[in-house]
Amino acid sequence: MKLQKDNIEAVLAEMTVREKATIIVGAGWGSLFEGFHLPFCHGHRVPGAAGETRPIERLGIPSIVLADGPAGVRIKQSGATAFPAAVSLASSRDPKLLEEVGKALGEEARAFGVDVLLAPGMNLMRNPLCGRNFEYYSEDAELSSEMAAAMIRGIQSAGVAATPKHYALNNQETNRFHNNVIIDEKPMRSVYLENFRRAIAEAKPWAIMASYNSVNGTPVQQNKHLLTDILRDEFGFDGVVLTDWTKHKNPADKIAAGVDLLMPGSNSNIRSICRAVRSGKLSETRLNEAARRVLQLIVKTPTFNSSSKAGQLTQTQKEAHAALSRRAAAAGCVLLKNENNALPIAPDAKKIGLMGVHSYNTICGGIGSGFVNCEHRISLYDAFKARGFRLNGRSEETYTAVLEKKSNLVKPAGLGCVTKYMAEPVYKEFRFFSEDCVHNVVDLADAVIVTISRQAGEGVDCKLEKGSYYLADAEMELLRSMSRRCLHDEKQLIVVLNVAHPIETDSWSSFADAILLVWLPGQEAGHAIVDVLTGAVKPAGKLPVTWPLKYEDLPSAANFPACSKDNKPVKTPDGIKDFDYTRYAEGDQIGHYYFDRHPEIPVAFPFGFGLTY
Ligand code: BGC
Repeated sequence: MKLQKDNIEAVLAEMTVREKATIIVGAGWGSLFEGFHLPFCHGHRVPGAAGETRPIERLGIPSIVLADGPAGVRIKQSGATAFPAAVSLASSRDPKLLEEVGKALGEEARAFGVDVLLAPGMNLMRNPLCGRNFEYYSEDAELSSEMAAAMIRGIQSAGVAATPKHYALNNQETNRFHNNVIIDEKPMRSVYLENFRRAIAEAKPWAIMASYNSVNGTPVQQNKHLLTDILRDEFGFDGVVLTDWTKHKNPADKIAAGVDLLMPGSNSNIRSICRAVRSGKLSETRLNEAARRVLQLIVKTPTFNSSSKAGQLTQTQKEAHAALSRRAAAAGCVLLKNENNALPIAPDAKKIGLMGVHSYNTICGGIGSGFVNCEHRISLYDAFKARGFRLNGRSEETYTAVLEKKSNLVKPAGLGCVTKYMAEPVYKEFRFFSEDCVHNVVDLADAVIVTISRQAGEGVDCKLEKGSYYLADAEMELLRSMSRRCLHDEKQLIVVLNVAHPIETDSWSSFADAILLVWLPGQEAGHAIVDVLTGAVKPAGKLPVTWPLKYEDLPSAANFPACSKDNKPVKTPDGIKDFDYTRYAEGDQIGHYYFDRHPEIPVAFPFGFGLTY
């Protein structure tokens, strides 16, 4: 008998316990080399994919391929389109746009031989320092779930599975494998789980990813309350629950709790599941349920339906998706400040004074599984040049020389150093400019622009330090001297914020006449930003997350990233300790839920804020 869409029960009845265990254990990163665990060896059918499942040839069950991620298909081969990061898409507040991007992502996944896209990321932004905030939509459960639902619908309309992640309460990167979230049931449900409930109800994802962290003492991947009682029985989720990527010490417990697919999985996982069924520790009914769900997923995938092979995008797809990426990036720009009609740039402007190293190397996406190995990235500098603007010779020479020589390159944080296809280059801002140079740049320019950038990503949270949440001294100096000269020349200073997360603005915003927040705008970054700066596209983005005036005003500030008994950040180089927890003492009072109730506490920019021309 061979698997078909309508004979799942019959195939299941023919399967041995071992075969059933085999299809619920993935075959990614080195699990093919049992006993030789290669932590970052990726799938074999599509190199660089996050993983795949195991085939059973006798029953015509193929292996399917799973790949990241939220801003584009992350595989080793370059060529996927890098779309704007989720936080940028959410700033557009346009579900139709997200659905379009989702459809394009699904089509690309198909074209590259991927069946399950590990996206969207949809954890709530509990705190601006979370390293993966850019991969998520909002601090607001309603907005987040609306955006996620649109994205899921889009991806699945192309016949590819969406996998909203990371269920649940995965709101920080510090100690990400072991952190135990302590939270009362009521706030947990009212915002954090509500976010997933709505998206599931609206868009019916075919899969969902169970996060690494624990909740109230039990790892999510072993948490029957979260995975079965709530997700299955209450929310009615009927797809596959797969784990976030880890080595599984107690696979049978995870399956018993409600996991259907262990990723990436190992041969010993299969053996322990079989042993657990034989000993009665894991019921065969539960094993059948998990195997049935995996089969139900398999028959929906491109691999099963069209025996698709890893290929390439067509030229037409590439162009259409690049145009969509650009449109989405422009729609996600949020105008935070615009005094003295600094923006849009005057129609007769010809010369641009462009400062800040990331004006020449715009950061398009984040680090880690949210990264996309695209073919090109358009910087602000590239885009101005392409439109015939003239750049100031002195600054142009200096910055382009730095990029060419790769001096001032910063080592990527977190997972960025794992492979070449997990991070794009980022530079440290520097003090090359003499007062004389600043005068020259400003005096000759019709528009003066400084870019401030922040990359972030998987595996590490941002820090409450200069160069991270606060401006670095070199950035502050650059803004100060540029603003001084702009005042002198009666010119306006425009700041482009190319950041993965909110940063502190109070100490420097008065230097700028205009501030345009562009987040991480994807591969067409420069084109999209120039579209908005010139007024070809009017800014319409609205903040999906509050920008606090003072970090300490955030209710989560006292308990982020992790909190030990004496309320100090926990360092855990050597595994789980009983104080590895983050107490969500603020309950559901995150972001605007809190500030709306406390109008007496000023914020830098409130949730929903965004100006236009
Ligand atoms: C990340 C997931 C990702 C997975 C596969 C994990 O480390 O947390 O978001 O989908 O790796 O790459």
